Amino acid sequence: MRRKNERLPVCKSEKFILSGETPFAVREAYEAARTELLRALAADGRKIVAVTSCSPSEGKSTNCLNLAVITAETGAKVLLVDCDMRKPVIHTLLHLDNKAGLSSFLGGIENDVSRAIDRNVRPNLDVMTSGPIPPNPAELISGAGTDDLLRYAAGHYDYVFIDTPPVSAVTDAFLMNTRIAGIIIVVREGSTRHEDIRECIAGAKMSNTRVLGFIKANCAVK
Ligand SMILES: Nc1ncnc2c1ncn2[C@@H]1O[C@H](COP(=O)(O)OP(=O)(O)OP(=O)(O)O)[C@@H](O)[C@H]1O
Ligand SMILES: [Mg+2]
Repeated sequence: MRRKNERLPVCKSEKFILSGETPFAVREAYEAARTELLRALAADGRKIVAVTSCSPSEGKSTNCLNLAVITAETGAKVLLVDCDMRKPVIHTLLHLDNKAGLSSFLGGIENDVSRAIDRNVRPNLDVMTSGPIPPNPAELISGAGTDDLLRYAAGHYDYVFIDTPPVSAVTDAFLMNTRIAGIIIVVREGSTRHEDIRECIAGAKMSNTRVLGFIKANCAVK
């Protein structure tokens, strides 16, 4: 296991990550989302879920991380992958160093996938950070390495959560369509437009990606 980077400054977004201090109602909302999601996955058989949204800053990373945390709390073995190689934040939120991760594996710098994974970041939760930001993220995602990674993840974990960039910017979430059970779309109250949601669903349909559900992120919890 790689060591946590103790030198990273505390990040203000950390307060939205599930912890012992999270209000009961918020924890309960995530538990309800987990119940719905696990039910949908049980019917599907596949266990890899990508979390995306229509536009930037709608809460993908926060919700992807929280879904991974709340699912790991059931005792299931969970892997969280930061697949946003343009604006990665998972390592910052979890205070992990990011010298090796997804880009190192997909770029062929680290051939052993297990060496690009942080073990037991929380009980039952392993994390693959983004790795150093590469010049060609789309090329890396569409390469054969992604298939190898997802096959490895499906074989070693009960559930896998993938944080992705917004679909308005790139369609990384749709490129993994054959290996994942589907996507969860995060929408932000008062900000995400109906038109954008419709476009996102249309994009999912065109790529044969199943929309597993939506998470409504709001800003009431500050
Ligand atoms: N419940 C919440 N209430 C208020 N602010 C929140 C909440 N959840 C997340 N945020 C804040 O919203 C911002 C965007 O969150 P996050 O990084 O999860 O979004 P994102 O969709 O992954 O963004 P990006 O498109 O850059 O990847 C962050 O500053 C985060 O701290
Ligand atoms: Mg993000």
